[in-house]
Amino acid sequence: MTPQSDQPEDIGQQLEQLRQEAQQRAEIDAALNRIFAPEDDALQFALAAEHDAEMPSIQIEPLQGRLLQVLAIACGARKILEIGALAGYSGIWLARALPPDGRLISLEVSEKHAAVARASLERAGLSDRAEVRLGSALDILPTLTSEAPFDLVFIDADKPPYPLYLDWALKLTRPGSIIVADNCIRGGKPLREPVEDDPTTRGLSEYDHRVATDARLVSVAFPMDNNGMDGFAISVVRSVASEGNS
Ligand code: DHB
Ligand code: MG
Repeated sequence: MTPQSDQPEDIGQQLEQLRQEAQQRAEIDAALNRIFAPEDDALQFALAAEHDAEMPSIQIEPLQGRLLQVLAIACGARKILEIGALAGYSGIWLARALPPDGRLISLEVSEKHAAVARASLERAGLSDRAEVRLGSALDILPTLTSEAPFDLVFIDADKPPYPLYLDWALKLTRPGSIIVADNCIRGGKPLREPVEDDPTTRGLSEYDHRVATDARLVSVAFPMDNNGMDGFAISVVRSVASEGNS
């Protein structure tokens, strides 16, 4: 690191440089969204429906939606499982990556959220391949074994049970399947040692450490959301479990 002077004029210069960098990052972000992940009417409808229903505005970013599609298509996804539907925004991105005879099953614990998600998927013309199942994910997951294996699992629900969702994702996938989990960085909290003693941070930290070290998976996480403060953990299920992790 270059030594930084704390002379007033230097602080002014440093602030100006930080301001310019922040502006440049915002421009890059806007351009990437415009070029790679423009939102059409159906996606905007889902956002408007979320807003109208006074739901939290915590859906994924458009570029993350596109990333989910890249991953789904890379693994030839025909069956996708989503844990946590919210307003159906990520469900639209996911279902659009499926072939016409593909299937998205999205689990949602809130009756209100499930109704909004169904309406958004219907409005996007995806009701033929996308279904929202209402209930607690931990109750529904054991009923899905006859519909497994899923080619892609996207976890974006309550955080404390993330490790349990991972157990189910591993049961319900096949070698070559992809498991993605949102919010695995969450401002850095789950990455810190010692782990803060709250259920959300503990759940996310355990998830991160498990996917990073489980011999059945090859995983990565990187900042891509919320100004670099959050992002997905992405794991591929190996064909042959390995002692190492690469
Ligand atoms: C929260 C949940 C999310 O899935 C997310 O992407 C952001 C925030 C939350 O519960 O605070
Ligand atoms: Mg999320």
